[in-house]
Amino acid sequence: MSESKILELCKRRVSCRNYLEKPVPDEIIANCLEAARWAPSACNKQPWRFVIVKDTELRRKICKEGFLPGVPMPWAQKAPVVIALCAKTNPITHGLAPMVSGINYQYIDIGIAGEHFVLAAEEQGLSTCWIGWFKVKYVKKLLKLPSTVKPVCLLTLGYAAEPPSPVKRIPLDELVRENTWKD
Ligand SMILES: Cc1cc2nc3c(=O)[nH]c(=O)nc-3n(C[C@H](O)[C@H](O)[C@H](O)COP(=O)(O)O)c2cc1C
Repeated sequence: MSESKILELCKRRVSCRNYLEKPVPDEIIANCLEAARWAPSACNKQPWRFVIVKDTELRRKICKEGFLPGVPMPWAQKAPVVIALCAKTNPITHGLAPMVSGINYQYIDIGIAGEHFVLAAEEQGLSTCWIGWFKVKYVKKLLKLPSTVKPVCLLTLGYAAEPPSPVKRIPLDELVRENTWKD
């Protein structure tokens, strides 16, 4: 049986850490943003905001000064586009509700929207990498974000210089149980 289109796309997407310095057409970015915009979100608050960074100097600053120590990511600077996935927080859904439920919905929402973006990029022949190991305060200041908008993750976007190698996944039988959890 042939693999479903979505499964094929999910398997094809691999973090890319080697980019060509080839610009990404605006139309492709617009398609990715449109896919992200249709993501579901808690109370349909759509807290995502996307800051597209193509400017060479801003990208250089993010990649030189904006990453946390311990995980060198020199490859990121070659990516022609960096996207700051940001959360515009709502005091009730993202402040009060998590105090009751213990679940921080904004991060779930941004994750879903971000992956919509990533899969749309993959479908159009582009590659991405999520970057969570960055200095939130530094990037917030550098991009002059208002106090209500917080960068939650970064994405690099561009054309892969070489096909990235897939990373192993935990087999399903270790990930799924019925009705309860037993190791
Ligand atoms: C929320 C999140 C944060 C991540 N942060 C980083 C990062 O800071 N640097 C990096 O090189 N990769 C980062 N990654 C990529 C993961 O290392 C990668 O997705 C994982 O190893 C699986 O590999 P694959 O994406 O190639 O399938 C991150 C991924 C996610 C989802």
